[in-house]
Amino acid sequence: MRLSDETLLDIMARFQAEMQKGLGKDTNPTASVKMLPTFVRAIPDGSENGEFLSLDLGGSKFRVLKVQVSEEGKRNVQMESQFYPTPSEIIRGNGSELFDYVADCLADFMKTKGLKHKKLPLGLTFSFPCRQTKLEEGILLSWTKKFKARGVQGTDVVSCLTKAIRKHKDIDVDILALVNDTVGTMMTCAYDDPYCEVGVIIGTGTNACYMEDMSNIDLVEGDEGRMCINTEWGAFGDDGALEDIRTEFDRELDLGSLNPGKQLFEKMISGLYLGELVRIILLKMAKAGLLFSGEKSSALHTKGKIETRHVAAMEKYKEGLANTREILTDLGLEPSEADCIAVQHVCTIVSFRSANLCAAALAAILTRLRENKKLARLRTTVGMDGTVYKIHPQYPKRLHKVVRRLVPNCDVRFLLSESGSTKGAAMVTAVASRVQAQRKQIDEVLALFRLTREQLMDVQSKMRTEFEYGLKKDTHLMATVKMLPTYVCGMPDGTEKGKFLALDLGGTNFRVLLVKIRSGRRSVRMYNKIFAIPLEIMQGTGEELFDHIVQCIADFLDYMGLKGAQLPLGFTFSFPCRQTSIDKGTLIEWTKGFKATDCEGEDMVDMLREAIKRRNEFDLDIVAVVNDTVGTMMTCGYEDPNCEIGLIAGTGSNMCYMEEMRNIELVEGDEGKMCINTEWGAFGDNGCIDDIRTRYDKKVDEGSLNPGKQRYEKMTSGMYLGEIVRQILIDLTKQGLLFRGQISERLRTRGIFETKFLSQIESDRLALLQVRRILQQLGLDSTCEDSIVVKEVCGAVSRRAAQLYGAGLAAVVEKRRQDQGLEYLKITVGVDGTLYKLHPHFSRILQETVKELAPRCDVTLMLSEDGSGKGAALITAVAKRLQQAQKED
Ligand code: BG6
Ligand code: BG6
Ligand code: GLC
Ligand code: GLC
Repeated sequence: MRLSDETLLDIMARFQAEMQKGLGKDTNPTASVKMLPTFVRAIPDGSENGEFLSLDLGGSKFRVLKVQVSEEGKRNVQMESQFYPTPSEIIRGNGSELFDYVADCLADFMKTKGLKHKKLPLGLTFSFPCRQTKLEEGILLSWTKKFKARGVQGTDVVSCLTKAIRKHKDIDVDILALVNDTVGTMMTCAYDDPYCEVGVIIGTGTNACYMEDMSNIDLVEGDEGRMCINTEWGAFGDDGALEDIRTEFDRELDLGSLNPGKQLFEKMISGLYLGELVRIILLKMAKAGLLFSGEKSSALHTKGKIETRHVAAMEKYKEGLANTREILTDLGLEPSEADCIAVQHVCTIVSFRSANLCAAALAAILTRLRENKKLARLRTTVGMDGTVYKIHPQYPKRLHKVVRRLVPNCDVRFLLSESGSTKGAAMVTAVASRVQAQRKQIDEVLALFRLTREQLMDVQSKMRTEFEYGLKKDTHLMATVKMLPTYVCGMPDGTEKGKFLALDLGGTNFRVLLVKIRSGRRSVRMYNKIFAIPLEIMQGTGEELFDHIVQCIADFLDYMGLKGAQLPLGFTFSFPCRQTSIDKGTLIEWTKGFKATDCEGEDMVDMLREAIKRRNEFDLDIVAVVNDTVGTMMTCGYEDPNCEIGLIAGTGSNMCYMEEMRNIELVEGDEGKMCINTEWGAFGDNGCIDDIRTRYDKKVDEGSLNPGKQRYEKMTSGMYLGEIVRQILIDLTKQGLLFRGQISERLRTRGIFETKFLSQIESDRLALLQVRRILQQLGLDSTCEDSIVVKEVCGAVSRRAAQLYGAGLAAVVEKRRQDQGLEYLKITVGVDGTLYKLHPHFSRILQETVKELAPRCDVTLMLSEDGSGKGAALITAVAKRLQQAQKED
């Protein structure tokens, strides 16, 4: 049993390898040292406060406590506690009875302390190996030490205890944290000494925990900061790694234990076993005639008759020898002086080996800490607890000395946890309860964005009402949803042909296109070029804007080698225009990011013509002005004649559809159909959906170019979703719930969350780390927790947008179904826009919502691959044909 320093260094190296094995994802399942993540991420910082309950189960004593932590001035903790017995029929009986018993003790404690009607958070110190996926859950891997209750292994002990507590109707307790005793010890000591980053128990059992770098913990996502790892070093050697140092006495002890083959390291070290080891050795010596003149008492034959407290007493300086005589006599032996000295010697050897082994494993942990920190010298504190360490007279000294010899480059302070592990458990619970309160605040914000089915149905029905308002002569002028006639009356029939120019202005990109339509084959060839429109032009004068557009057309013609060609042109202009014919469109008002002066109330076609004239370089035949929704519907309608709706979920939000002429009171004639550009973005401008607008929506509105306008658009489209997210993040940060409470300059910057970033952040395929990287690219320095919250915020905002789109779309398809008197409507919707195209969940949620709200409509969403320029060209082709026909007439 004597271990040389060389052997100890060897054991230390083996334990280092074991830790590595336990931490690795692939190696963990077969590792005997389990290295369990504890989800305790930081040592106390002194800001903890509140009143907590605490249970301490698994050591030599079971305690219930009330802990009062206050941060006023000095760190201050007050505890009241009560011990309860743990009869063996309870700890080795039925699992449910064990938890009922624990809950009974808790209820009794609360009653005597007058806490019955207080709602209190509870921290559970549970000193057994548990696999945790969060702080408030732990699956018991196996019982150790004296416990062996049936039906508990493999289950979550927190829910077992919660269930038992619920049976007591008069107490209200919420278990917020499950901690191992080592963790509690480390936290207790860290409250007084911030250098403390290791916790060691040498008591009934033995174990250690320490703060590991997240980047080394494969089993937990994220690599920021540190997390406490419960090593469960007691199981070291269970795979045979320590066979060379185990003795025949260790094997005999193991065979007689509750868990043979398990916790082999613990069985050489901890209090539950030290006395028994001594007994087994003495018995063997007696049998060999080496002690007590070969006499053996029946007590010496009895398991458990020598306990650790006896070992400690026998090794006591001065009284040790007298104690030994007394103890041996009590065991029914008649020891000589020489016997007593020999027995003392045996005790020393057994307990010294224990300290040596602990020192070797602890030295491995300290080395790991030092290497993690890349330090030549480590200064650290180890929190200590457990009866062996506390009552054995020589143990602490020996342990400290060996550790210092094994790791000379570590300056270690050993700090005894005077108040057990519960003070630390209360700290963990305090942090957990703060996190829980914060979570509640976050949930409250997110809940504002959750719409019930009833709310969505309400939106649908209000939208429907607005449609009718906009279509009727009497109400049209006051209507917020303008329902603008487009003078597009039919779908292309495939006979269109020719070469056309198209402009596509108002989405993310400004494009000039050349579209060649070949008749018969429904095939189209397109050439296009994207041009930038600088912000100062978007918001400058109308003349500047149109001069710029004409400049771009000139560049394009040049680029295509078409200089001087006089082609018919279709103008996709994605803003609300009042039309009196296909080639006339008066801008009602700018939306989205445009605000050029002298345009509102003017005919956009005229303004374009004048700009062409001003340039005096080429002439163009402007045949049609179309909204992007209409262009999109046409693009898709060219392939699917069932397509009678156009939808944009992009920078802006809008929808158009084919309406019966008889319903359009603003236009003469009752025959056939005409496309209506609803301009539904303005839905709600009369306040009709204010009940679902949040304070964040209002903030975004106030900061926009057109306050009070386009309220529905501002809750649904790409240009605003990111802004809503930004407003929420600012608010959460102000509340101290994000970014450590620091609002960075970047977060103050309008428009940082473009639709593409939202879409990336919400992608399911992304790991948290990648989300963090995207946020970092945006200049937001976030932790992993921050990233989770940001992702949730994005999700809530985009989900609401998709649902609102769904409600709007449901309103129009239901209207079409009813207007046509159909039992069932089958219809295709042409869709375009970056939000729809890039967002990972938008289209699915949109589709689901429509299905839910308009169950009698079979709605197919068809993505417009070619943009609305193609549709604009088709409309131009049709218009051109009609023009020609009129002329010929
Ligand atoms: C106590 C702690 O002080 O020590 C317990 O509060 C811990 O959580 C115990 O389990 C370990 O020592 P022992 O000797 O009681 O097992
Ligand atoms: C494009 C269309 O594909 O999508 C444009 O060609 C339309 O006409 C645009 O305005 C809408 O999406 P976004 O996201 O660019 O505004
Ligand atoms: C046993 C338990 C462990 C505990 C230790 C000290 O080893 O498995 O969880 O920390 O005893 O009580
Ligand atoms: C805005 C415009 C509308 C356009 C939509 C999508 O809502 O007012 O005309 O269709 O954005 O681009």
